[in-house]
Amino acid sequence: MYLQKLSLMNFKNLTQHVFEFKDKINCFVGNNGVGKTNVLDAIYYLSFSKSYFNSVAIQNIRHGEEFFMLEGSYVLEGRDEIILCSLKKGQKKIVKRNGKSYDKFSEHIGKFPLVIISPADRDLIVEGSETRRKFMDSVISQQNQLYLKTLIAYNKILVQRNALLKYFAANRTFDAVNLEVYNQQLIWYGGIIHRERKDFLEVFTPIFEERYKTISEGKEEVNLVYKSQLLDVGFPQLLNESLAKDKVLQYTSAGVHKDDLVFEIGGYPIKKLGSQGQQKSYLIALKLAQFDFIKKQSNVLPILLLDDVFDKLDENRVSQLISLVNNDQFGQLFITDTNAKRTEEVIKRINKSYKIFEL
Ligand SMILES: Nc1ncnc2c1ncn2[C@@H]1O[C@H](COP(=O)(O)OP(=O)(O)O)[C@@H](O)[C@H]1O
Ligand SMILES: [Mg+2]
Repeated sequence: MYLQKLSLMNFKNLTQHVFEFKDKINCFVGNNGVGKTNVLDAIYYLSFSKSYFNSVAIQNIRHGEEFFMLEGSYVLEGRDEIILCSLKKGQKKIVKRNGKSYDKFSEHIGKFPLVIISPADRDLIVEGSETRRKFMDSVISQQNQLYLKTLIAYNKILVQRNALLKYFAANRTFDAVNLEVYNQQLIWYGGIIHRERKDFLEVFTPIFEERYKTISEGKEEVNLVYKSQLLDVGFPQLLNESLAKDKVLQYTSAGVHKDDLVFEIGGYPIKKLGSQGQQKSYLIALKLAQFDFIKKQSNVLPILLLDDVFDKLDENRVSQLISLVNNDQFGQLFITDTNAKRTEEVIKRINKSYKIFEL
């Protein structure tokens, strides 16, 4: 699968562009702030129907404009496919595949798999559990439509249950029978999510360990530890035990929406003890493992976006990355760099067709 052509209008700082891509390597070069990352985000958007960097949809419309439009022409299993995403202020987002609107955007996720490696990945280490849950969910969701649907259903019930808890508090009332209706659904969907996350990590962790070994030249032991309240106690009991607290807080304080993934190195959380270099390697290994995982599950080579990676890595890691790209494990690649000369030098070492776009 690869992206042949991208047309965009008013996406972030970009006005109007048409790019014709190579099926292997494409580079965007230019000074800071010209919009290199924004082009990658446009490509990300076409796969996920949302931005990687800005979750507030309308903020992706160019300042002073009324709408943005993205159109990607892909080749998927030998067929041409056209994806269109557009958003107009005050209207609903539109996502179309070959001219046909999706009923639910979730149906689009995973059809054009993509992995992004970006300096913003640092959030995975420094931020709270939500970013890591989202990472885990996004990796699983690209492979598993049912998981994504279950997750959406769980979150919907969670919102409703929280609203009910608020209602109870506001009206100084309580209705156990009514609450139980929500509990049952939460337990049902939460159980599926918990099992899927567990199963996923069993497959994913060894892939990740392998990737980390090749990137870091195999010095430290790394591990991904799934933290979930549901590992210790069943969901019905968990909800019972936290009921008193939930009534006070007026929201659901326990469940799979509190899960976390602890990034360990040498048996300790990398957040506290990893060096800068270790943290970088860790993040790249995670993303390359995501790539491997998708490839393994679906036999499709995801598009890989590398945002400023040459900038952030020492020579050694760059060479390693290049040799990975070189031995045909990868499909289509999009790279950004401020340094046009360096990019050209690195890319020439790879024996693949490439194109450099100056922004
Ligand atoms: N909605 C928007 N309208 C106009 N400009 C935007 C919008 N969103 C982001 N930008 C601008 O895009 C620029 C950053 O582009 P970016 O792709 O990150 O640059 P690069 O990666 O080339 O350094 C910033 O100057 C930012 O203010
Ligand atoms: Mg950038």
